[in-house]
Amino acid sequence: MLKTHTCGELNAEYIDQTVTLAGWVHRRRDHGGLTFIDMRDSRGITQIVSDPELSIAHHALADLRSEYVIQVMGIVRRRPSGHENPSLLTGEIEVVAQEVNLLNASKTPPFMIYEDSPVEESLRLKYRYMDLRRERMNRNLVLRHKVVSFIRKYLSDLGFIEVETPILFKTTPEGARDYLVPSRIHPGQFYALPQSPQQLKQLLMVAGFERYFQIARCFRDEDQRGDRQPEFTQLDLEMSFVQREDVLDLVEGLMTSLIEDVADKKVQSKPWPRLTYGEAMEIYGTDRPDLRFGLELRDVTDLVRDSGFRAFSEAPMVKGLNAEGCGNYSRKQIDELVEFVVDTGAKGMTWAIIEEGGKFRSPLTKSLSVEVMAALAECLKGQPGDLLLFVGGSATVTNDSLSKLRQLLGSRIGSHDPDTLACCWIVDFPLFAWNESEKRWDPSHHLFTAPIPQDEHFLVSDPGKARGAQYDMVCNGFELGGGSIRIHQREMQEKVFELIGLSRGLAQKRFGHMLEAFEYGAPPHGGIANGIDRLVMVLAGESNIREVIAFPKSQQAADMMVGAPSDADPDQLAELNLRLG
Ligand code: AMO
Repeated sequence: MLKTHTCGELNAEYIDQTVTLAGWVHRRRDHGGLTFIDMRDSRGITQIVSDPELSIAHHALADLRSEYVIQVMGIVRRRPSGHENPSLLTGEIEVVAQEVNLLNASKTPPFMIYEDSPVEESLRLKYRYMDLRRERMNRNLVLRHKVVSFIRKYLSDLGFIEVETPILFKTTPEGARDYLVPSRIHPGQFYALPQSPQQLKQLLMVAGFERYFQIARCFRDEDQRGDRQPEFTQLDLEMSFVQREDVLDLVEGLMTSLIEDVADKKVQSKPWPRLTYGEAMEIYGTDRPDLRFGLELRDVTDLVRDSGFRAFSEAPMVKGLNAEGCGNYSRKQIDELVEFVVDTGAKGMTWAIIEEGGKFRSPLTKSLSVEVMAALAECLKGQPGDLLLFVGGSATVTNDSLSKLRQLLGSRIGSHDPDTLACCWIVDFPLFAWNESEKRWDPSHHLFTAPIPQDEHFLVSDPGKARGAQYDMVCNGFELGGGSIRIHQREMQEKVFELIGLSRGLAQKRFGHMLEAFEYGAPPHGGIANGIDRLVMVLAGESNIREVIAFPKSQQAADMMVGAPSDADPDQLAELNLRLG
């Protein structure tokens, strides 16, 4: 090694020892004729100081610039009293340089590595190898490594085996578009990159492995959001001879250990709360509720049905939210909230402030009786000083807009400890959702989810009523995982294909291998997939998934560092039998 120690380990125990360090010039300061270098490597920072009596090293240090790569041989000494830096592990000591070797120079960096100041993301992504030198990114990737190593050990100790599955595959629909890869050997034919290893992990259960996991790369061509990437990583797992509780218990144990032991954070409630899909939609307006704060929605449709306030009396659903303590909001602040809600798709929002003495200040008082106003306040547990907010519209729009408003208000008024994570399970999802434009049922999760046994009869009589044996893990308002107990019998799988409008021929062509496998003694099985990127994002306290991925795609699904996607060579296209239109 070109070094005897790392830049993160020297302390008072090493005083008077001669050491050799290698790393980067993090920062250079000149003071009273001396040069101080904060020298950085992947483990930390050590202060190097020049000694004018050692003139070659003294001058060499003075010539260094940010991000030069250097090797320094020197003697460890205690920093003068009052100059210690308790925020550094090496803050008690410094190394007096005796010999300095320049291993490589650096152009002026596009942004300063030592500053945590905001840098435009496009620049960070173009120079990602520089961005990753920053402490925050280093910390995030180290955390990600710890998370993945912990998972591997935890599951291996429980008898799971890790199996890799192919990337060049056939369509595995998870609700997004496929990425296609043309085949040279089979002109005109394509592989699809897996949206998840769903079918393969089920086939591993048919193959008798009983407990499988994989840190699996998945590919989905869908619109980008802060918590989505076109290629992302899942902890994918599957178990045979299990019921829902077995999967939930296992994942709850694993995730709680990750939060407490790896990320050193707390779990808000143990065991995790469980909500049915119906409860989550009713109380929070979303199936991924952020339980760090209350701010529950209340359905007030019946209270305002005959109110004479048209926006309410004609709406299929009216819901309210109590922004506790926000009764002092100005008109401008309230208008901003209204604008926010309108941007989410609602027609509007109406408000009521409860003043001291219980009187209301609200546009509603013109149309609603004192009794109705009082009933609304009671329903929302309104107190003087509170601001009540109401939205009317279709159930979808009302829930969607109020859940987003709830999230916004939660970040303002919901006091929560940043080191406490609120995990929960959402269960009992509807198995299908009606697709009005296509006039058919769509699976709410994916094609392979089983109905819960009590609801199997609805598949024939009333598919919309059938609940799926599906579960989602939600944490701080992010969906961190989803899974289900699977169909393992051919007849049931065929029934589901039929309901979603997949013809026998197409079902056979796309999923014939699954149908056939189910005829060779497929065991009952179930599993889940947790988004690793999202999990690490939440554990690291980041709000964008790109902060925990070494080389993420931009908002426009591009790699800005290497310039991908890019044109293909005409010869390559010809070889693949492709012509661009
Ligand atoms: P699902 O589609 O719910 O289930 O995905 C599981 C989890 O993967 C994460 N995730 C994503 N993370 C980043 N970017 C994306 N584009 C993205 N899409 C999903 C989420 C999500 O909860 N085969 C099933 C799992 C199963 O049934 O076992 C599946 O993939 O955290």
